[in-house]
Amino acid sequence: MKVARSIAELTGLRDEIPATHRVGFVATMGALHAGHATLIQQAQALSDTVVVSIFVNPLQFGPGEDYARYPRPLEADLDRCAELGVDLVFVPAVGDLYPPGRQVAVSAGTMGTVLEGAVRPTHFDGVLTVVLKLLNLVRPQVAVFGRKDAQQLACVSRMVVDLNLDVRVVGAPTVREPDGLALSSRNVFLSPADRGLALSLVDALEKAAAQSDLPSALDAAWEVLDKASLDPAFVLDYLAAVNPETFAEVGADHGGDVLLVVAAKVGAVRLIDNITLHHP
Ligand code: PAJ
Repeated sequence: MKVARSIAELTGLRDEIPATHRVGFVATMGALHAGHATLIQQAQALSDTVVVSIFVNPLQFGPGEDYARYPRPLEADLDRCAELGVDLVFVPAVGDLYPPGRQVAVSAGTMGTVLEGAVRPTHFDGVLTVVLKLLNLVRPQVAVFGRKDAQQLACVSRMVVDLNLDVRVVGAPTVREPDGLALSSRNVFLSPADRGLALSLVDALEKAAAQSDLPSALDAAWEVLDKASLDPAFVLDYLAAVNPETFAEVGADHGGDVLLVVAAKVGAVRLIDNITLHHP
């Protein structure tokens, strides 16, 4: 496995990949877990050479968010990538990716201002800016993103269309702990009590998915979330039924699949999750 620690090193190593190879790409912020591993495996299944980036992107963190304390176990991450058979890991420094004088950035538009974007106003612009830069540097044919971050996947897919990027974006299913909690690099910050509370997110989504129409699904989810909210350690940000591509909220008359998205602060940790509701 090769490791590029600068843009210059990446460019050199990228040029060594044969032109006949399909390049698959997985962007990460490190602290790799089984969720990232499935993205890497999916990329391997779809390509000949897999590039993984590890970069905690300051642009997508708001003031007061967890940029400074975001876990950065770089050596363990590199071992994990090597075990998984990754071909090339890109670990740029902040000053390399964002040199002084930076002016131009990507706007995620309205779909970046709702739900996650309402709680984290600069988040999706920061995500799209770094993802566009990484795609330009890595030049993959396929890029795999997790459906756990559904709004991010929708924004990246929209950017690819709106900016005519020559890459196929593939969504990979959410990987969960045995108890159902979606794997996240932030789960390590949950106390045992908070972890129990965090499970109400999964419980709410699963109860909703067992209903046969959207109003009953929302009722079922609210019942669980209202109960969890009695604990002051659980602060719900939103529960919403949205169009999975546009992230516009949908009404009870919506035909086709609906994404039920939920976010809450549990203790000191912000968690998001979602489930697809298949209603006729
Ligand atoms: P990060 O949170 O490290 O996630 C990297 C990728 O792993 C994303 O596509 C995310 O959706 C996916 N992922 C995370 N947890 C998952 C799980 N439990 N199951 C399946 N996939 C999961 O998302 C980011 O980093 C950043 O915003 C990034 C795209 C790298 C831009 O900075």
